Amino acid sequence: MNFIYSKVSHEKKFFGNTDPVQLTEKYGTPIYVYNENILRERCRDMKGLISYKNFSVNFSPKANGNLELIKIIRSEGLRVDAMSPGEIYVNLLAGYKPEEILYISNNVSEEEFLYAIHAGVKISVDSVSQLELFGRINPGGMVAFRLNPGVGAGHHEKVVTAGQKTKFGIEVSSIGEVKRVAEEYNLSITGINQHIGSLFMEGDAYLKSTGNILSVAKQFDNLEFIDLGGGFGIPYRKQANQPRLNLKELGDKLSAVIRSFVDEYGKEIEFKIEPGRYIVAESGILLGKVNAVKKNFKTKFIGTDLGFNVLVRPVMYDSHHDIEIYRKSGTPSLKEEPVTIVGNICETGDIIAKERHLPEIFENDILGVLDSGAYGYSMSSNYNNRLRPAEVLIQENGKPRIIRKRDTLDDLVRNFIL
Ligand code: LLP
Repeated sequence: MNFIYSKVSHEKKFFGNTDPVQLTEKYGTPIYVYNENILRERCRDMKGLISYKNFSVNFSPKANGNLELIKIIRSEGLRVDAMSPGEIYVNLLAGYKPEEILYISNNVSEEEFLYAIHAGVKISVDSVSQLELFGRINPGGMVAFRLNPGVGAGHHEKVVTAGQKTKFGIEVSSIGEVKRVAEEYNLSITGINQHIGSLFMEGDAYLKSTGNILSVAKQFDNLEFIDLGGGFGIPYRKQANQPRLNLKELGDKLSAVIRSFVDEYGKEIEFKIEPGRYIVAESGILLGKVNAVKKNFKTKFIGTDLGFNVLVRPVMYDSHHDIEIYRKSGTPSLKEEPVTIVGNICETGDIIAKERHLPEIFENDILGVLDSGAYGYSMSSNYNNRLRPAEVLIQENGKPRIIRKRDTLDDLVRNFIL
C-alpha cells in the first residue's frame, strides 16, 4: 500500500500492524477506526489535569457512545456522565456503578426522571421548573443543578452552552428560587455543575466561569461535588501544525483556584470535569472510498461514500477535518490541486472538505478523515436510508478488532410494521 499523504497517522502509528487499504478490504467502507493507545493516552492527560486529590474525570459519551470504548475509558479510571436514559443504560452495560454516573438532564419528562431515580444515578436539573418536577416526584431527594455561569465558549454558536443566548442552566439571579424550591420539597442540593461549551483552545473563559460557579457554590452548605464541565479542544489542523491546548497552564491555574476554594469551604468536596471530545476525537479516523472523480465547471469534485449521514460536523458547523490519502496501487500523485470532497447524499451541501489543496486523488483511493472520533459515529444517521458504518479498534497489540457491526438492510426496516 502507498501512503500518499499520511504524515499525521504515520507518526502516531495509528493503524498498528495493519493499514487503511487492508482494513477497508476486510471491513468495507465507510468505517470508523479507533486507536486504543491514543484513547488511553488522552484519558491520562485529563486525569492529570488537576493536582487536587478528590478530582475525577467524567467522560461525556455523547461524543462517542461505543460500548467497547466506554469500557476502555472506564478501565482508565474515568467516570461518566449521561444525557439520556439510553446513555445511562449503555454506561451501566459498560460496568459503571450507578453512583459513578451523573445524569445531566435537560427538559426531560417525569418518566425520564423516574428512570434515572430508579437507576440510582446522580441527577442534575437544568431549570427551576425541572427542580419543581423533580421535587414533586422525589421529595427529600438529593439533586444537583446546572448553573449558567454567564460565560460561554465554543467553536460555533450552536455549541456555546452558557451565557445569554443559550437554553442551558440556571442563571445566578435565580439561585434564590433554587433554594426556595429545594426547601419546599426538602431536597438536598449536593452538587452544582456547568458546561460552558464545546472546544476552546485557550483556558480564559473556562477559568472565568470556574470563578463564577465557585462564588455560587459558597452559598450551599451540603455540596458533595462541583462539576466544571467539558469543552477542552483538540487541534483539528494538525497538517498545518496547529498547537495543542496548554493543559499544564490551565491545570495549574485550576488547581490553585480549587485549593483556595476548598480551604475556605472547609470540606474536601469532589471536583469533576466532563470532557467528551478531548478523550475520543484524536483516537478516531474515518475511512472512506473514492468512487468518482469529476469536474463540474470550475470545481474538481472527489465523490466518496463519506456522506453527511456518516460525519455531519462539516455540514452542521462548517468544521474542518484534515484529510489523508492512501492508495493500493503504486501510481504516484504528480501534482497538487484544489478539490472539493463530497459524499453520496442527495444534497448539494453534502461536502466533507471544501477547496482543499491535496495531492491528486484517483478513483479507488482511500481517504482518511482525521480526528473524527468525537461526534462522528454518535451523530451519524440513516438519512437516505444509508447504513451507518462499522467501527474497528486498533488494539494495544496493533491488531484490529471490530467493535460495532455495519447496519444491514434489515436494520433499516426493523421497526416497520411489515
Ligand atoms: N457536558 C455537557 C453537559 C455537554 O453538553 C457536553 C457537550 C459535554 C460535557 C462534552 O463536551 P466536549 O468536551 O465534548 O466539548 N456536536 C458538537 C459538539 C456538541 C457538544 C455538546 N455537549 C461538535 O461536533 O462539535
